[in-house]
Amino acid sequence: MAGRIPQAFIDDLIARADVVEVVGRRVPLKKAGREFKACCPFHDEKTPSFTVSPTKGFYHCFGCGAHGTAITFLMEYDHMSFVDAVETLAAMLGVEVPRDESDRPARRYDELFDLNARVARGWQQQLSGHDDAVDYLKKRGIDGATAKRFGLGFAPDGWSAVLDRYGKDAEAIERLLSVGLIIRKDNGRHYDRFRDRLMFPIRDARGRTIGFGGRTLGDGEPKYLNSPETVLFHKGRELYGLHEARQALRNIERLVVVEGYMDVVALARHGIDFAVGTLGTATTPEHLNRLFRLTDNVDFCFDGDRAGKQAAWRALETALPLIREGRQVRFTFLPDKHDPDSYVNEFGADAFVAALDGGVKLADYLISELASDVDLDSVDGRARLAERARPLIGKVPEGVYRELLMDSLAAAVGLSADKLKQLLKPGRDNDAARDKQRPLAKIRRIGSHGGPSVIRRAVTLLLNHPEAGRELDASVLAELERPGAALLRKLIETVQSEPNISTAGLLERWRHDDEGRYLGKLAAANIPAEEAEFDAAAELSQCLGQLKLVARKDRIDFLIQKQRDSSLSDDELAELRGLR
Ligand code: UTP
Ligand code: MN
Repeated sequence: MAGRIPQAFIDDLIARADVVEVVGRRVPLKKAGREFKACCPFHDEKTPSFTVSPTKGFYHCFGCGAHGTAITFLMEYDHMSFVDAVETLAAMLGVEVPRDESDRPARRYDELFDLNARVARGWQQQLSGHDDAVDYLKKRGIDGATAKRFGLGFAPDGWSAVLDRYGKDAEAIERLLSVGLIIRKDNGRHYDRFRDRLMFPIRDARGRTIGFGGRTLGDGEPKYLNSPETVLFHKGRELYGLHEARQALRNIERLVVVEGYMDVVALARHGIDFAVGTLGTATTPEHLNRLFRLTDNVDFCFDGDRAGKQAAWRALETALPLIREGRQVRFTFLPDKHDPDSYVNEFGADAFVAALDGGVKLADYLISELASDVDLDSVDGRARLAERARPLIGKVPEGVYRELLMDSLAAAVGLSADKLKQLLKPGRDNDAARDKQRPLAKIRRIGSHGGPSVIRRAVTLLLNHPEAGRELDASVLAELERPGAALLRKLIETVQSEPNISTAGLLERWRHDDEGRYLGKLAAANIPAEEAEFDAAAELSQCLGQLKLVARKDRIDFLIQKQRDSSLSDDELAELRGLR
């Protein structure tokens, strides 16, 4: 088998390839300004919405969304394999395709899945020999059959059990490192990541073990230790329990999203096989896409506390772009101090299902949140409502659902639908003036719904002007838990490590990801690059400045919450004072 084609070569090839020539040889193109147009070769149309941009090096169809680089075009239009497409382009440019013999991803990935599977099996076998772990499971109401179904295991105490058993040579150690099972110390030695923990293997939709979560049996910190992001494991994408749900159910009529490992396992123990966990992260668009591919009925079940409300609101914002007629999203808030695990154990499966069935529909939740603490008798109050509603309703795809949503909102706030629509028109708000009087208002606005759009803007800028990100300080993104933040960070890392990468080069790198589609759309967005004053680098650092405010606000919220729970340490109190 030939080795891998080095990424740098592919980047370079895409930067040099003439996408207009590649497409133009197969589809008649017409010049339109700086771009070229044609009727889309990928769907049936009479007026051209297929655009090829020689400067950005890619094509995009505004009709069907097809997009890509010279490589993708050859793959889709000529049905070539990736390697054939690369060879064809290289031949057009008269260059030889180099091969990297040391790195064979296909084999490597299989080996990594296999390694995870062996370690999971090993831990599973250890479980019954450790009374403390078995007692713990019993105490939490998990029976043997459920433990087996989820492949629960036990990683005994000790610094090198995994290392000694699975890391016999340098290559094996590299593999352990790359799936995050061991950690490298500064002195070059290694130790096991998971020690003295109850182990939950995390499986992908095909049932392959991609990572682990490990719970302490006592009250050590952290409560759950998880695999880091690895080539196999992307936290924002995976749903814990999805594979098991698909195994258990013939038809997936509904899915309920919960937060924790134990929630999923406890629900399954009680016969509720349709629960999946986001593993403590915010719900991402990838999560939702995955859910909606399987069912139209998605429930979110959160704790009744403030953090639960916050998580629900974020999930709502993430769900809006995917909402349409026929899809039902509901939110269930459990009573104080309960999570799905404790609830189902105390009240039983029927009560839990009843709680879900009594959940608030997305539209109702949206409206009640929008209308809360707004004085609708005042002009100011109505303007505020409109200001809050606009970005949210704007996310809902045009169609029946959106119309119904606006009608319900109008009815709820006692306005005619026409009057509301008028209020919702852009350009009515006077944010700048108000921000001068209330500096916090700006942060709050970004924090509640501006965050994702700032991130989207930054991603768009970066895609269209990769060179503008070279000097950017992206440190804030590491702590920002918002949809898109991780993607933005990866993009920035890429343009900084590959200073000559082009728009098309970035798209190519993300071609395999779900995120690739989204990037294609953003890359096609028009950025006023022509205007003399436009400075992409300055705009980008402005975006990051705004995100810093968001991160600061999140941190303040987090600390205030801890203060309310009386769990704030002295250091944190000092930090909070400093932040405010
Ligand atoms: P919770 O703190 O709500 O814990 O975290 P839980 O699920 O109720 O856990 P139990 O019942 O005490 O065992 C929810 C989820 O957040 C992630 C885990 O995925 C957890 O299931 N989490 C939490 C972590 O990754 N690390 C932590 O330290 C805590
Ligand atoms: Mn719990």
